[in-house]
Amino acid sequence: MHASDDKIQKLINPIESVAPAPGFGDGSSVPLDIRAQAEADRLGFWADRARELEWQTPFTEVLDWSNPPFARWFHDGKINVAVNCVDRHVAAGNGDRVAIHWEGEPGDTRTITYNDLHREVQRTANLLESFGIGKGDVVAIYLPMIPETVFAMLACARIGAVHSVIFGGFSADAIRSRVDSASAKLVITANGSVRKGRVFPLKETVDKALETPGHSVEKVLVVRRPEHEIDMVDGRDVWWHDVIEGVSDTHEAQAFDAEHPLFILYTSGTTGQPKGLWHASGGYLTQAAYTHRTSFDLRDNDIYWCSADVGWVTGHSYTVYGPLANGATQVMYEGTHDYPSLDRWFEIIERYGVTIFYTAPTAIRGFMKTGREIPLRHNLSSLRVLGSVGEPINPEAWEWFRDVIGSGKTPIVDTWWQTETGAHMIAPLVSQDALKPGSAQRPVPGVVVEVVDENGNRVDPGQMGLLTITEPWPSMARGIWGDDQRFIETYWSQFPGRYFAGDGAGVDLDGDLWLLGRVDDVMNVSGHRLSTAEIEATLDEHPFVAESAVVGADDETTGQAVVAFAVLKHSQREAIAAEDDVETLLRKHVAASIGAIARPKMLFAVEELPKTRSGKIMRRLLKDVSEGKPVGDTSTLTDAAVMDAIAQKVAARL
Ligand code: WTA
Repeated sequence: MHASDDKIQKLINPIESVAPAPGFGDGSSVPLDIRAQAEADRLGFWADRARELEWQTPFTEVLDWSNPPFARWFHDGKINVAVNCVDRHVAAGNGDRVAIHWEGEPGDTRTITYNDLHREVQRTANLLESFGIGKGDVVAIYLPMIPETVFAMLACARIGAVHSVIFGGFSADAIRSRVDSASAKLVITANGSVRKGRVFPLKETVDKALETPGHSVEKVLVVRRPEHEIDMVDGRDVWWHDVIEGVSDTHEAQAFDAEHPLFILYTSGTTGQPKGLWHASGGYLTQAAYTHRTSFDLRDNDIYWCSADVGWVTGHSYTVYGPLANGATQVMYEGTHDYPSLDRWFEIIERYGVTIFYTAPTAIRGFMKTGREIPLRHNLSSLRVLGSVGEPINPEAWEWFRDVIGSGKTPIVDTWWQTETGAHMIAPLVSQDALKPGSAQRPVPGVVVEVVDENGNRVDPGQMGLLTITEPWPSMARGIWGDDQRFIETYWSQFPGRYFAGDGAGVDLDGDLWLLGRVDDVMNVSGHRLSTAEIEATLDEHPFVAESAVVGADDETTGQAVVAFAVLKHSQREAIAAEDDVETLLRKHVAASIGAIARPKMLFAVEELPKTRSGKIMRRLLKDVSEGKPVGDTSTLTDAAVMDAIAQKVAARL
């Protein structure tokens, strides 16, 4: 691992911790001895968490780990995830409680109580069944942040269909590969999403994805969101508002096996092809609900808001399943933080009296840049707990988050986890721990991790290494959809018997954990995972490109930024010369084939890539120059002059 001195310094000389606010733990539902409970009887502890849910058939076995790494949790129990997120609260007399305060980007609002959610989910479940969707069928959901997205996800869960949510910023190609890889029968989309006052054409993108025949999609269900005309394909496309008319809003839910698949979610890995991680019902919901309650110290009168899009795992676990399983009241917001002005998020916190706010370091660093005056012109005193997720939070951002947004008093909970882990794995207990700015601190009670060296030996306090998880946990992904072998190879073969997360971590002298980012070719841009290999493959597909290399360069605001280097084909000289700006053209090509989040921040057309004598591209050197650092050791390169030329080109633009 590449270790910078300041990272080691933190481990041997950690920043002073911040004591919990006096009286903060009063009224907390998190028992003071929760860690001792989990350590004394780990499986019994998880069984108790699972029993906090409603089971139609109680389970008798907690964990079946007879065929690692394929775990089965609570497997002889039967459960309905949607009933747990909705019906259970209505039956308990909480139907009038607000489930979702929804706010659209143009400022329109909807208030959805648990009673409303109950009716809508049942109606949607009936609708999906009328299309012939049932247990085990895959439904692709390509929707903006609107209530129908939640109805659709829960309706799938209710009838045992498996949802595969595709982030609304992804391209037609990304939709098609996800549809194909899981043979989705139905796509649910909208006529568009609203982005900064403009319409992003979701339906046209779906049409494009399904243009070439040979796919499995029978129907496309379309929600009407913005004023935006679209074409409907006869016999395939139907409007949600048309077909939902007259559909009954009562639906009898069946229970499914605890291990029945709940959803598939694709994420970038180290290869060109995204992986479809799949999660099972009972274990996933157990850990999503438990961590949502424990990490945020959830209380009865909280107004919770997670700013993540449901297209990512954070939106799955901490907008949909965790909060709704806990019967929480939450805010859901359709738009971006800066439209129509940079006040938008703070207005929302103030208006709804948000008490728990969960967001990403990239957003915090963005607000640091635009200045404290903006949040400070709002009354944010309702905030009680702030959460961070998606990438390492630097101590400066942590302090600023607490001082400016949290009025100098709120605890900050840094939560480390992944699409693969399903729910929080490392996070402090905010009601009882002294907090360390920049550290995720301790495993969630019930989770066991170890930082090891390259040979799998535990590192000593004050050292850095690789983060591994040594025991199975309920919300672990059950596999890569359709590719068990790849699941084993990707996560379980580096350190046999353990899960390797792909992240580096350090342990300080107090035993607290510091997450240091990815150690593989996965980039983290604004908390979104992107694969260098996937972007390279996309660039290489372009007729102008002979070869490319992509790196994630450290970036003050977005954590990392995509920087690409492309060698252009001599054979295409004339076509290239006819273009005004080939670099912009290639950046656009990446955005069009993967999605705007993957668009390189900078792209350089270069003569050659720096390679070792064995032909390996030295991405490390490209990363250094992209970060404005001097070119490192070039002695292993076939031709050091190649790197000098690149360095000059990059320096001229930084
Ligand atoms: C990174 C998002 C440091 C990490 C929930 C991980 C973090 C990847 C943190 C997973 C954190 C997430 N501190 N790094 N608190 N949270 N990461 O699957 O590199 O989109 O491997 O899940 O994000 O990204 P994913």
